[in-house]
Amino acid sequence: MDSREIRKVFLEFFTEKDHLVLPSFSLIPQNDPTLLLIGAGMAPLKPYFTGEKKPPYPRVATCQKCVRTPDIERVGETGRHATFFEMLGNFSFGDYFKEEAIKWAWELVTKGYKFSLDRLWVSIYKDDEESYNIWREKIGVPHEKIVRLGKEDNFWEIGVGPCGPCSEIYYDLGPEFGCDKPDCQVGCDCDRFLEIWNLVFTQYNLLPSGRMEELERKNIDTGAGLERLAMALQNVGSIYEIDTVAPLVKELSSIAEKKGQGKPGKDSLSLRIVTEHLRGVTFLVADGVLPSNEGRGYILRRLLRRALRHGRLLGIEESFLYEAVPVIIETMGDAYPELKQRADYITQIIKIEEDRFKETLNQGCRILEDSLQDLDKKGETIFPGEMAFRLYDTYGFPLDLTREIAAEKGMEIEEETFQSYLEEQREKARKALKSTGGFSRETWEGSSELETSFVGYDHLEAETRILVVTAEGTRKGEAKKGEEVELLASPVPFYAESGGQVGDTGYIEGDDFVLRVKDACYNQFEQIVLKCNVEEGAVKEGQEALARVDGERRQAICRSHTATHLLHRALKNYIGEHVNQSGSLVAPDRLRFDFTHFSSLSREDLEHLEKTINELVRQNLQVEVNHVSLDEAREMGALALFEGTYGEQVRMLKTGEYSLELCGGTHLDSTGRIGFFKFTGEEGVGAGIRRVEALTGEEAWKHVREQELILKETAEAFKSSPQGLREKVEEWLEDYRELEEKYREMRSKIAEYQADNLLNKINRNGDVNIISAEVKAENMEALRELADRVKERTNRSVVVLGAVKDGKVMIIAAATRDILNEGIHAGNLVKEISGKVGGGGGGRPEMAQAGGKNPEGLRAALDEVEHIVQRQKSGAIQETRDKKKDTRKE
Ligand code: ALA
Repeated sequence: MDSREIRKVFLEFFTEKDHLVLPSFSLIPQNDPTLLLIGAGMAPLKPYFTGEKKPPYPRVATCQKCVRTPDIERVGETGRHATFFEMLGNFSFGDYFKEEAIKWAWELVTKGYKFSLDRLWVSIYKDDEESYNIWREKIGVPHEKIVRLGKEDNFWEIGVGPCGPCSEIYYDLGPEFGCDKPDCQVGCDCDRFLEIWNLVFTQYNLLPSGRMEELERKNIDTGAGLERLAMALQNVGSIYEIDTVAPLVKELSSIAEKKGQGKPGKDSLSLRIVTEHLRGVTFLVADGVLPSNEGRGYILRRLLRRALRHGRLLGIEESFLYEAVPVIIETMGDAYPELKQRADYITQIIKIEEDRFKETLNQGCRILEDSLQDLDKKGETIFPGEMAFRLYDTYGFPLDLTREIAAEKGMEIEEETFQSYLEEQREKARKALKSTGGFSRETWEGSSELETSFVGYDHLEAETRILVVTAEGTRKGEAKKGEEVELLASPVPFYAESGGQVGDTGYIEGDDFVLRVKDACYNQFEQIVLKCNVEEGAVKEGQEALARVDGERRQAICRSHTATHLLHRALKNYIGEHVNQSGSLVAPDRLRFDFTHFSSLSREDLEHLEKTINELVRQNLQVEVNHVSLDEAREMGALALFEGTYGEQVRMLKTGEYSLELCGGTHLDSTGRIGFFKFTGEEGVGAGIRRVEALTGEEAWKHVREQELILKETAEAFKSSPQGLREKVEEWLEDYRELEEKYREMRSKIAEYQADNLLNKINRNGDVNIISAEVKAENMEALRELADRVKERTNRSVVVLGAVKDGKVMIIAAATRDILNEGIHAGNLVKEISGKVGGGGGGRPEMAQAGGKNPEGLRAALDEVEHIVQRQKSGAIQETRDKKKDTRKE
């Protein structure tokens, strides 16, 4: 029975038992911050179990793709552990319970899949008498085939939420797969007893506090591993031999044969790991996960990099995983159409990440191996956390990759130190997000307690008090006209640069002074620092003043920011959910947006996006600001850029029904004020990151106007109108091509004529024909062409042509082949005469060229040719004689 049939039998069986079949959910959990990835059939259904949401039907069945990594280190070592798998499951939401679940599972394995009874075993939670009785009395399983197991094996929970005791069905693969220990039985760690189906009696709800409450309505959650069912039904000893995986093993094996050390053995651990991980990688990318250093992106990166390292152990140094992806798409694409739809995308993302890591993998491995050796020599068994962090930070080694390689040498990583370095780095990154001021810490240390409150969301003006005045990093307390200062004041309406939005500018006016505020940014203590110029009078700490933001500039910044939110959402809608912001600049005169995507946007893409955004502008969507909890924001599906760095309460920007995004920036109150949105550029900025640039409002209009002006002026130059310009240019091009053709013909005729003339000027010197003359030529190429023509039509000849163009001299020298072995060398000849024209040159014996700055010397240079030829010839004769003499002496 192939996997397609196994799925079909399962889902049809439960359809008959009145279940609603749902398609597999994405691997990315929706609205569930407690999970990184979907790792079980029940995971996407959690709210139905707890009663939080009403299920579409009380009984559901699915075949769910899953990624689970706790067993990652056992992958390959056993034939049954995987990080990616398909889980078949039937679920009851407060409907049927234990008896039906057990009865149907048994019916399906014995009648549907026709497993023979003597191969089947069951386990129950140690004190679940109810289940024991059902198995024993209602189903008739003999007492000795019902094994009681503890919490570890037979109590099921996933993050917080529904959980409960469970009962499992095992398939005995036979003693040949066993460990031969006398106590080997169901629950043993060896390969013999394969757990094929887990029936969970979900009767509790685990609360975030850790308390477990009894659910009012009992549920059923079951999970049968499709790959394991296939092992049993296809009578093979590992998942690597079943129908959905074997073709991939074969493909990777032949890639290893071509690109690596040769064909790996059938049970090669590395081959197995690469195979298994690549399946997960493919499905994760298909669902929009991108490699990163955080969260689910990191799981993907770990799987992919671990696979690459094992590829390297197979001797493969180049990128290769992406080449095997089509095989997965081929075998799994019917059941999971998203693979087919995004085939190119998946392959490209995998290749980009491979290419990126490949460069540092070798270097990192070398460093790691060297330090392992060093430590080993010193008798150490602990691998320094600092080193592990460096490998992670500089060479992109996921911690568990380093851990695995170290363990192979019997060494353990100092994980706490690693974690502390990681935390320090994250802290820095968090600070860097805000602190762009480049201030030294000491400047503000003494006043770090002071609060600078921001009131600029609602006001562009505020009565403020000057708190601290510094200049060049030291506290001055006061400053006079003409001085540059950095100061703290509170409250302030000036937005300090953060999240890509630039700082505000404006004025602070007191009774005795005027300050021009040139920029506002955060320092290390998250205080707003104003960079100012004292324009009038003198300012002192403690003084009161009126702070005023440059309103027009602020409005332009708001235009850019609100437009950026529209752009972000439009990109996600049009290009795909994998698009995520990776950086931005929100300035008064332009906006820049960097996002994750692997290929450039076409002109059509940009046009489509621009059209959409301008439509949204015209719809004049209201922009609302709400303060909600992070959980609420997540639930509503708000885009959040730096997950986890937000406080509990977050500021959420809602633009009509179109966009929802967490943001601390300043915005318009409706999109109409953007006026007009125009792209000005699109480019790549690193692997997998694209950048677009755009203008809004007046800047956008100015840009279009400029373009229009260029068009008008160009049209005028062509004596045409903007409308007629294209046709006109085409006509001109046509004419130009014709003229070019004519010109070429003419040049050729002239060359012909010139060549004829030159042939009349042959100067016989002994048995060599010398043609040495000044001619007219546009460039070196024309000169060479002419020399070639003359050469073609003579034999035993040396041709030297010189021309003067724009006060510069060009010389070409050529010799026919038939005299080259008589000492004639055009290159040497040119070298000698080029001095006379104030330049240099050289070349091969048959063709050489020179240039010079002195046209007056050309005549003399050309006259020299005859002598040189003579010398070259007689030199050769002399040499031959000398040689002959030498031979005689011997
Ligand atoms: N949720 C249960 C499991 O994943 C069925 O094993």
